[in-house]
Amino acid sequence: MTSNPAQDRDTLYAAHLQAISARYTEALEACSADAAAIFAGAEVCIGRDDQTYPFRTEPYFAQWLPLPTPMGSAIEFRPGNKPRLLYALSQDFWHASEPEPDGFWRRHFEVSIMSPEAVEKRINAVDEKTRVIGRPNNGAAEMLDQRARKFISWLDFDRARKTAYEVECIAAANRIAARGHGVIASMFNQDKTELDLHLAYCSACQQTESELPYPNIIAANEHAAILHYQNRDRQLVTENRSLLIDAGASYAGYAADVTRTYGNSNQDFIALIGAMNELQQDICLAATHGTEFIALNELTHQRLGKILAESGLVHCSADTAYGSGLTSQFLPHGLGHLLGLQVHDVGGQMRNHDGDMIERPEQRPFLRLTRALECGFVVTIEPGLYFIPSLLADLDRANGKMINWALVDELRAHGGIRIEDNVLVESTTVRNLTREAFAAAPAVARH
Ligand code: GLY
Ligand code: MN
Ligand code: MN
Repeated sequence: MTSNPAQDRDTLYAAHLQAISARYTEALEACSADAAAIFAGAEVCIGRDDQTYPFRTEPYFAQWLPLPTPMGSAIEFRPGNKPRLLYALSQDFWHASEPEPDGFWRRHFEVSIMSPEAVEKRINAVDEKTRVIGRPNNGAAEMLDQRARKFISWLDFDRARKTAYEVECIAAANRIAARGHGVIASMFNQDKTELDLHLAYCSACQQTESELPYPNIIAANEHAAILHYQNRDRQLVTENRSLLIDAGASYAGYAADVTRTYGNSNQDFIALIGAMNELQQDICLAATHGTEFIALNELTHQRLGKILAESGLVHCSADTAYGSGLTSQFLPHGLGHLLGLQVHDVGGQMRNHDGDMIERPEQRPFLRLTRALECGFVVTIEPGLYFIPSLLADLDRANGKMINWALVDELRAHGGIRIEDNVLVESTTVRNLTREAFAAAPAVARH
């Protein structure tokens, strides 16, 4: 890297486009096709209204080009040629528009400026040798989709391996998220509502809600036991026992996905957060090239068994807690997932380009990543320990004697703990994009 960030970005982006072009060339060959067209997507009106749902760019479009408002645009790629941006320009006086889109990417593209209708017409009229991703929504769609299935599967498999440019985008998204997490950490204990915290987070990140890669999870106290808690209560939280924040940010189309949990005065809960942080850091360090993610998930459960036994939450040994399946009642979700253009990035269970699957172990029905880790994968590592009322009730029926109910009852009002970082898999080491962003941000809790 040089001391000139703009120059670094240009160099990384040029290499990224080369790598993506090579992937597309290979995928087209495999499908006996000549060209690809990637439609950015269009805004969709809410029934009988002229208001639209929040727009999300087709991820494969964003992979080529970080255009902030690409609605209706498309990219054409033909091996050996410069990719062409078909830029959809709406000539209306209702919305802001960019008559000549420009940016650091510009010199790598031919640009044709067209009406949205003309772009759509051109995409719908492609020949049989062109594969279309993210097609306009109309009569030709199904046939185009059918033809593109194998092509997209091929690209999905490769998408797990990030280019250096993509890694830097995810690192930048983590730096933005770190600002939001820092502000929230400083507000815990100040008798705010969950909505206050959510708005403060967006403000600190300078991202609107629809720019975030997934809805923020801002869970006070018992709410932390609801894995994808979606409400933002307007009630002041006056008993600040715990706070779980699962909140990311996006940068140039790439996502960060970060969770932190805070405790207050209960020392047993604080000690559990410390133990979970230690576990999480050890698992992060083990996420190197060649590691089977299924095995890493099992190791996490074994270590969780130890935490359950050592904290006194269970009366049995660590081995029994793991072997009897008790740990899954405290940690029902998987260890993590691929991360990139989408928060749960595609391809996590693919065995090969053709889309054969690597099945999840029967006892791990929610594990999203079953592949062996490879250099260039970016994954989340997000172990948790929760007091989920329905699962505790199941435990009571099946394994009630093994549980220290007095301690569970003391802690259940704290909801649970999750600690989540984004890591880049390297050959013998791991780059933790989240911890490095938090370490560089002022006034952020370190875990
Ligand atoms: N924020 C969703 C997840 O952690 O997978
Ligand atoms: Mn996640
Ligand atoms: Mn998350």
